[in-house]
Amino acid sequence: MSPVVARTRSELEEALAGVRTGGGRVTLVPTMGALHDGHASLLAEARRSSGTGDAVVASIFVNPLQFGAGEDLDRYPRTLEADLEVCAAEGVDVVFAPSVDEVYPGGDPQVTVEPGELGTVLEGAARPTHFRGVLTVVAKLLGLVRPDVTVLGQKDYQQLVLVRRMVADLCMGVEVVGGQTVREQDGLALSSRNRYLTAEERRDALALSAALRTGAATAPSGADEVLRAARAVIDAASGVELDYLVLTDPDLGPPPAEGEARLLVAARVGSTRLLDNVAVELGAAAATGES
Ligand code: PAF
Repeated sequence: MSPVVARTRSELEEALAGVRTGGGRVTLVPTMGALHDGHASLLAEARRSSGTGDAVVASIFVNPLQFGAGEDLDRYPRTLEADLEVCAAEGVDVVFAPSVDEVYPGGDPQVTVEPGELGTVLEGAARPTHFRGVLTVVAKLLGLVRPDVTVLGQKDYQQLVLVRRMVADLCMGVEVVGGQTVREQDGLALSSRNRYLTAEERRDALALSAALRTGAATAPSGADEVLRAARAVIDAASGVELDYLVLTDPDLGPPPAEGEARLLVAARVGSTRLLDNVAVELGAAAATGES
């Protein structure tokens, strides 16, 4: 069935009124549209964990506040018709697709969500205002949709960690679920920005997932070996301008000597900035292979 499309706050309220009065649970999957199989899997996850009387809401909003000067706000793909088909196929009940004025009626908000220290490293070092924009719009979407659960991808891992942090620190009372990264058969993590890549750049971009796989495979030998092995793959690659390759604990702190860790990479391929990450189990008998 086609989802209800709500363009305004009042249309959203109207679309969710029945669910709210019936005591149903609401799950929100926030997106910027240009939906691919990675988003489809988040929507499917939301649907799976919802029952009769519950609602799955997908928001589609290209949030200007999270783009810095000179970034790709203008060329970011906007594909609403195709997105609605993906939402229909995944059983989404309501698509919230507001305009910029609807989300920011008075222009840029005076009060924003400050991501703190964690918002200044990794992606935050390259994009200093990015996470303030992300957290501010996610806080607004949570305020408007008032979901019980929100599902975000592990692909943007730092974003996921920061949203969890915001929800905990500001007592927002919503469960945050991290959905698995979906990959092409050759390992490339799905991203709306992959469509910027030329055929040659797409081949070069495979070095990112290959580095993570190679690093994760050496996890039983410990942190230094993971980083050395992953780095060797990037160094041997062409067309990849590395920004960072780091190993952290699951909350992006220093990695443990043993146990759960996260290996993250960011690089520029052509003019496109790509991110990827995997879970690794340091010092254990085998790498998890989970992503
Ligand atoms: O990951 C995204 O698509 C965006 O950063 C989000 C979470 C929808 C906020 O605009």
